[in-house]
Amino acid sequence: MTTYDLAVIDGDGIGPEVNQQALSAMKAAAARFGFGLETTDYALGAQNYLDTGRLIDDEIIGRLQAHDAILFGAMGDPGVAPGILERGVILRIRRAFRQKVNLRPVRLYPGVHTPIRDLDPERCDFVVVRENTEGLYVGGGSTVHEGTQNAVALQESVNTARAIADVVDYSFRLAQQRRRKLTLCHKKNILVHAGELWQNIVDEHSSRYPEVEVDYVHADAMCQHMPMAPERFDVIVTDNLFGDIISDLGATIQGGLGVAASANLNLDGRAPSMFEPVHGSAPDIAGRGWANPAAAVLSAALCLASFGQGMAALALETATASVLGELSALAGPGMGASTEEIGDRIVDRIVTGSVEEHGRREGSIMTAMAAI
Ligand code: IPM
Ligand code: MG
Repeated sequence: MTTYDLAVIDGDGIGPEVNQQALSAMKAAAARFGFGLETTDYALGAQNYLDTGRLIDDEIIGRLQAHDAILFGAMGDPGVAPGILERGVILRIRRAFRQKVNLRPVRLYPGVHTPIRDLDPERCDFVVVRENTEGLYVGGGSTVHEGTQNAVALQESVNTARAIADVVDYSFRLAQQRRRKLTLCHKKNILVHAGELWQNIVDEHSSRYPEVEVDYVHADAMCQHMPMAPERFDVIVTDNLFGDIISDLGATIQGGLGVAASANLNLDGRAPSMFEPVHGSAPDIAGRGWANPAAAVLSAALCLASFGQGMAALALETATASVLGELSALAGPGMGASTEEIGDRIVDRIVTGSVEEHGRREGSIMTAMAAI
């Protein structure tokens, strides 16, 4: 029996609550589909930083490296200045483990309220693949005359052919397993150097994947097309900053952060990938049982898909989708059920759902990811 070795970083706020439900769902799938799970907890995050002054050091990076994947809850606390944990933990992990792809599915689950009027769920099922280690996120640059009227800030964007090629190749392979459509999102009319490099690399790969239709949309226009014509998209590939922005728009379209999942994928197989709900630590609702665990469970599903456990991943997704559908049917404020109750119902559905039901979604991100 294959056993997967998970590092669990619960983090802060609602992180531990939602991660616990994600783990329960994974364990239920492990029992049903015949694989093992081992977990090791890592106390990282705002609380740890406030207590010890440590973010993440080489020793912890070394220990994390040995795991098959990292399941990440959420991080942040009003007591820690913005940016410290983001750069010191999240970006550090993404870069240390060469997690070049940040993948965010945008699927509208039946019954989940979207702010986009009259959007049929069938029309909305695409994936944002964001380059995750470069672009404007490298943090290079300088400021002169700081604090004066003459201050000048330079912020550098790094775009290497190698990282772009890896991310573009992954996107083509993903598109091939789905509806065979790839859209490059950039701003090549203005950002001519980076834009041209991205377009050239997409064009090169296009000849290797002739069955995948290729399209291009400017990042600003993307913010109109995504909500108005989501059926136009299958796999959207883009750089770090544009990806950060449009994936939040994607989360809004699919009904908010409660259901938005993400994967930070290492593509060389020599370091773990990391799976995290898109939402933050929500300290205002922590400990109340109000957090929707769906995003964490769906992130865990992406983790199983990355292991090649397509059926198990699909089971988590199908179970979550069906429970989400019931919740919105309940009247009253909030979700109508606690974090734990929702988690329990998802587990129940994973255990009892029919394999046919789990296996129905041809071209789902879960089966597509598991196949590559
Ligand atoms: C995200 C977040 C992060 C990012 C932050 C927390 C570093 O916004 O995962 O999209 O900007 O990538
Ligand atoms: Mg973001």
